[in-house]
Parts: sequence; C-alpha cells; structure tokens
Amino acid sequence: MIEYKGADINFSLESKIAIITGGAAGIGKATADFFVKKGVKVIIADLNPQADEIAKNLSKDCIGISGDITNEEYRQSVIQKAIATYGTIDILVNCAGIVALDNSETISDKMWDMTMEVNLKASFKMAQAVGKYMIDHKIAGCIVNMASQAGVIALDKHVAYCASKGAIIAMTKVLAMEWGKYGIRVNAVSPTVVLTELGHKAWDGPVGDEFKKQMPSERFAEPDEIAGTITFLCSSAAAMITGHNLLIDGGFTIK
Ligand SMILES: NC(=O)c1ccc[n+]([C@@H]2O[C@H](COP(=O)([O-])OP(=O)(O)OC[C@H]3O[C@@H](n4cnc5c(N)ncnc54)[C@H](O)[C@@H]3O)[C@@H](O)[C@H]2O)c1
Repeated sequence: MIEYKGADINFSLESKIAIITGGAAGIGKATADFFVKKGVKVIIADLNPQADEIAKNLSKDCIGISGDITNEEYRQSVIQKAIATYGTIDILVNCAGIVALDNSETISDKMWDMTMEVNLKASFKMAQAVGKYMIDHKIAGCIVNMASQAGVIALDKHVAYCASKGAIIAMTKVLAMEWGKYGIRVNAVSPTVVLTELGHKAWDGPVGDEFKKQMPSERFAEPDEIAGTITFLCSSAAAMITGHNLLIDGGFTIK
C-alpha cells in the first residue's frame, strides 16, 4: 500500500479564505460554488450589482462585493473586507475577464485598452496586493490566474484578448519565480471555449461548430470542469506545481 506523506487525498480546502474576481457568473461562479462545497469561505468581487445576492444563494459563507476590478479603491476594499470578515486571505482566483472581437487592422484603442485593463492589469494589481499581504503575513497562499488557450495559439479576431492572455501566462511565471521562496504558488489555467455567456458570445453558431470538429474532445468545456481544475491547483495535492499554465482544452492545442 502507498503511504501518502504530504498530499491530502481529499484535496481539502476546508476553512481556507478565497477571493474570486468575476465570481458572479460563468467560470468564476462555478469556482465559487465548487469552493464553498469544499468548505472555503469566498469573497466574490464582481461588476454585477447583485453580487452579494448571488453569493448568498451559494452559501452563507460567501460574500459578494459589487464593483469594477479596474478601480484601485474597489480592489483595496475587497481585500480589506476579506481580512476584516475572515481574518486572512489564502487564495486569489483572478477570473474577471472580457472579450472584444475585431480584426487587428480595425480594433479601436478603446477596445484594446479595456481588454488590457480588465484582463491583465487588474489581475496583476490584485495579485500584487494579495501577494504582498501574503508575504507580510507569512501565508503560504495560492494564486490562480485565468488565461486561455487564446494565450498560446492564435484565434481570429481575438488580437487584444490573445495578447492579454499570453501576458497573463508570462506574468504568472514571474510571480511564481519571485514568490516561491515565500511558499506562495502562482499558476494559470487556460481553458478552451467554456459554455458561459462569454463563451457563447464568441463561439455560438457555425464558427463554434467548425471549431469543435478540430478538437479531440469534439466538445466545449462546462464551467464546473474549469472550477475542478482550479480547486486541484489550490489544494496541497498541487504543492509542487507553480508557474504552470494548465491547458483545459480537450486536446485542441496538441496539434
Ligand atoms: N468562456 C470561455 O470560453 C473562456 C475560455 C477561456 C478563458 N476564459 C476566461 O475565463 C474568465 C471568465 O470567463 P467567463 O466565460 O466565466 O465569463 P462571463 O462573462 O460568464 O463572466 C465574467 C464575470 O466577470 C465579471 N466582470 C467582467 N468585467 C469585470 C470588471 N471590470 N470588474 C469586475 N467584474 C467583472 C462579469 O460581471 C461576470 O460576472 C475570463 O477571464 C475569460 O477570459 C473564458
């Protein structure tokens, strides 16, 4: 019989405190739901004005704070609320993201800047603030950044999105390298198309049907399949995984 020396075979996250940005819908909401079922106390940070109602429907141990993650004051208020309510922060999942579709030769500065602000800069600023808190308080925490298969391959009309997600993968590696000595792990996940509002917006119809034919899985992902992977990465079973970009793509990018 194998004796387990470190890893928890239950992948437990019991009593951990997590902030999930973009947690009121799609992958972030599925992750919040998965986390509360694993005993995590969750703070959802989301633009949706109903964030707290959505959180309370998941669990009494889930708080929603409505606001724009690109705003520094809002980011600080989320972090302060987590600490004031639960005493600490063990996990950050940077999930808030947007997609703006246009050709490279016509995409506007506004679309480009907004994509970078939400997807990249806000993720970095949350990681920077939470990472600093973890370092100062000697917390061996875990950060998961939402990248995408769009961060490793080219997708038509996705120039700003692809650039933002590729940068997230690069940022993840640097944070993991710099913060490994503090016991903080930083990873990225890169899903294929996930059947959320954002996924439907970009891939419904013939474009998506054609795409699926090129995937070994021949199907897109469900939000809870991404939530399960994020949960694994935050558990002690993944204690030696850091700086990694984990593709959840039904094999699409192996070609
Ligand atoms: N759905 C896909 O196909 C897919 C694939 C790969 C990666 N991703 C990434 O996964 C993440 C979640 O995507 P999703 O499909 O669940 O999207 P979604 O649109 O279903 O949910 C995104 C959530 O983020 C929130 N949000 C958006 N902008 C915000 C802001 N400025 N401040 C605070 N909250 C904000 C929204 O209100 C929403 O609740 C994104 O980073 C996305 O790029 C999605």
